[in-house]
Amino acid sequence: MSKRRQSSLFKTDKRIRLGLWGLGRGMSFYKMCAALNLDVVAGCDYNEHMRVRFAEANPGAFVTDDAEAFLNADFDAVLLATFCPAHAGDAIACLEAGKHVLSEVTSFHTMAEGVRLVEAVEKAGLVYNLAENYPFSAPHMYLAQKWREGLFGDLMYAEGEYVHDVRSLAFTYIDGVPIVPGYTLHNWRSWLHFHYYCTHSLGPIMTITGTRPTRVVSLPGKHTLPGNPMPKVQGLAGIAPSLITMDNGAVVRNLMGATTNDVHTFRYWGTRGAAEATDRLFLRLGGTGESPKLEVKADWGELTALAEKAGHGGGDFWVLYYFARQLLEGTPAPFDIYSAADVTIPGILAYRSSVNGGQPYDVPDFRKKKERDCYRNDHDAQHRFNPNTVCFPKGADKAQVGRFNSLMTDLLRYTAQYRAYTDWMRVADDVIDPKRLGDLADTVIQNHAAMRVALREAQTLAKTYPKGEGARLLHEMLETADADRVLKPGFIARIKKDRSRF
Ligand SMILES: NC(=O)c1ccc[n+]([C@@H]2O[C@H](COP(=O)([O-])OP(=O)(O)OC[C@H]3O[C@@H](n4cnc5c(N)ncnc54)[C@H](O)[C@@H]3O)[C@@H](O)[C@H]2O)c1
Repeated sequence: MSKRRQSSLFKTDKRIRLGLWGLGRGMSFYKMCAALNLDVVAGCDYNEHMRVRFAEANPGAFVTDDAEAFLNADFDAVLLATFCPAHAGDAIACLEAGKHVLSEVTSFHTMAEGVRLVEAVEKAGLVYNLAENYPFSAPHMYLAQKWREGLFGDLMYAEGEYVHDVRSLAFTYIDGVPIVPGYTLHNWRSWLHFHYYCTHSLGPIMTITGTRPTRVVSLPGKHTLPGNPMPKVQGLAGIAPSLITMDNGAVVRNLMGATTNDVHTFRYWGTRGAAEATDRLFLRLGGTGESPKLEVKADWGELTALAEKAGHGGGDFWVLYYFARQLLEGTPAPFDIYSAADVTIPGILAYRSSVNGGQPYDVPDFRKKKERDCYRNDHDAQHRFNPNTVCFPKGADKAQVGRFNSLMTDLLRYTAQYRAYTDWMRVADDVIDPKRLGDLADTVIQNHAAMRVALREAQTLAKTYPKGEGARLLHEMLETADADRVLKPGFIARIKKDRSRF
């Protein structure tokens, strides 16, 4: 690690030379690095669009699309933000290159990969942290402190939620730019079942209550939202609930999904008190069901100003802070490789449970070699398709089908605007503040010409290539957007007439 004097949150002026592997999400940490003794000296991404953005922000850094060249470069640690199902293999490559690792969620995709990763960390003797950030919002950190002090007693039951409609990310990069070539879907967001993305909802419950999962069960949900490339197994556009037993005997409902009501609500019931956290925090204290329920304020003390500037309710700041602190001062971070395994495995096994008729599975403790041995050859994983070829036939006109991702992005946006207006109009007389309905109508009126163009293009593309996932997705969007109605003459005149009511 190099030495360079800068103002620092730590007692040392040692600096850590950091490389970012995966420059989409990886770049969200960039601005916080300097204050945490981290110098970003290298970046790696296949994608030119991401490399250009990184090089502009960091002109002195080494940037490459070649992972081997990146890992051979001279620096101390990697912030790993490559494709989600590739994290285990990529983390092992980092460790073998002698780099400490801060890995984005999740830690691994199969049980066998988990075993390999745990043992690679043990063998390397380097620091491995998981960048699970949701436990570190101000309300969650406040709750963790009070839980440790015994305010809530024993955990009886909790509910954690990460319900986030991320459908458009099957067709775009993380910054909303449509994926190129436009007929290829996102590497993993086009097919991964939401059970595999289980850490943002389970992580806070583990961290706050100090418990670890021991058994998991899940029943499958059948329905998905339109515009989901992987409908038969739901992908990231379905619902993924599971029930988990924790090691103190409590039960947790872990809910992930992309559906029609984004929520990140956490509810805790202890034997002495209860709590409900969103971006606000309510406690019910007194030990009975009708005890007083009051809101409390929570912040991060002297680090509030810095944490507030970071993404995900301050959580991004804390995972980077804990990683730097462990490297500089040796204090263990909350998510080492073992708690990373604890928070990752329930998703893998919940998926397994949901496709096996709700069979429950014990969650092994990967701290113990004996328990790891049972999963050493467990390569079972969700079926995935090839996102590069699934939408259109091989011989399709590349220029025409190359418009697909932009078109799907537009269709998702315009359809959402149209549906919001149309569905709210069905209950317009019951709305307490109807002014908002006028705004919804204005949005449809403003975008109507562009929506017509998108709908017509979708009709043509689906007709030209009627077989395959591309046509199916386009038809779903055309149906959800009531294309026949929207394309009829007189449609917009009727909305303008309705608009005058508000
Ligand atoms: N904690 C959070 O709040 C949060 C938020 C967003 C994303 N994430 C996680 O961060 C990770 C990255 O997510 P993202 O949103 O940037 O999406 P992404 O999966 O599209 O980004 C991965 C990036 O890494 C690059 N890449 C992948 N493998 C590579 C390789 N071997 N060599 C060079 N480049 C490679 C890709 O080109 C891409 O730009 C994901 O695992 C995701 O789960 C976490």
